[in-house]
Amino acid sequence: MSIEHVCILGGTGFVGRHIVSRLAERGIRVRIPTRHPQRHRDLKVLPQVELVAGDTHDFATLSRFFAGSDAVINLVGILNEKGHDGSGFQKVHAEFTAQALAAAEARGVRRFVQMSALKADMPDPPSHYLRSKAAAERAVFATKAFPVTVFRPSVIFGPEDSFLNRFAGLLKIAPFMPLARAEARFAPVFVGDVADHFVNCLEDPETYGKGFELCGPRIYTLHDLVRYTGRLTGRRRPILALPDWAGRLQASVFEFLPGKPLSRDNLASLSIDSVCTGETLPCPTLLESVAPAYLGQEGHQARLQRLRMGKRE
Ligand SMILES: NC(=O)c1ccc[n+]([C@@H]2O[C@H](COP(=O)([O-])OP(=O)(O)OC[C@H]3O[C@@H](n4cnc5c(N)ncnc54)[C@H](OP(=O)(O)O)[C@@H]3O)[C@@H](O)[C@H]2O)c1
Repeated sequence: MSIEHVCILGGTGFVGRHIVSRLAERGIRVRIPTRHPQRHRDLKVLPQVELVAGDTHDFATLSRFFAGSDAVINLVGILNEKGHDGSGFQKVHAEFTAQALAAAEARGVRRFVQMSALKADMPDPPSHYLRSKAAAERAVFATKAFPVTVFRPSVIFGPEDSFLNRFAGLLKIAPFMPLARAEARFAPVFVGDVADHFVNCLEDPETYGKGFELCGPRIYTLHDLVRYTGRLTGRRRPILALPDWAGRLQASVFEFLPGKPLSRDNLASLSIDSVCTGETLPCPTLLESVAPAYLGQEGHQARLQRLRMGKRE
């Protein structure tokens, strides 16, 4: 199957931008729907890339965005919902995906690739986040209209990630780091490796109808990752591993703060290790070979240089 035009839902985000630039490099035309075209004007300068504004939750708008696309990649996702009952996650993950599948079918799209999350396919996932990702996966695998592929990454790292950068931000202001679920395990995967698999799978029949887990080459505890971030940023704060009751208390306060730094649902997701146990694809990039360039002193110098040149961080 030859793919010449791709519509990427969630293409303005952290992972999406890496996929977009790889597709554009290969001469594939890309359309990126967004709710906030002003925030993402920089994407317009890429050759082959079209940024389109509109409400992707509206079926007619969405199906208009899919016109002429050979493939749809769906990356739309949230880590926190507005309320607390799971309905926000259901709307953005499950209902949105079901609508995207229907619109893609109506437009004669020939390929669909879905971003899920590691452990979404486990029996009885522990959080609203994972359950809604699981419902989205079920809808994707139930479709008969086109071949589908699902990816389930562990936490993703790279410049502008929201994981290590968030800890870097917290370490900047906190004299010590009270850490819930400090022993939770992760296999952080590089955003470039994730993007490569999304792009490579498009024309690869071996990936049709399958779900792949994506994990980096090493496993770390949350404690390890925060300590490493502290070392790279030069802010080695004491880390206080919280017992479960204190972690729950922390989350029930933090979920009411702006930006929800931690919610009870995040904590529920952290109750299972985010490490691969199913079918995987290789993601060889080590955290230690990339993170120093964007978290460390070298990254700091690069950010200063960008600011001097008048570019946004
Ligand atoms: N980052 C990770 O560590 C990680 C790990 C595992 C799985 N994932 C999954 O990977 C996907 C991409 O993650 P990311 O880190 O790139 O996220 P991100 O930077 O927050 O980008 C999310 C994208 O989704 C769109 N979006 C967000 N909420 C939406 C809503 N309510 N309705 C419509 N569109 C909405 C945004 O588009 P506009 O604002 O432009 O409209 C944005 O482009 C998500 O599905 C996430 O669950 C991420």
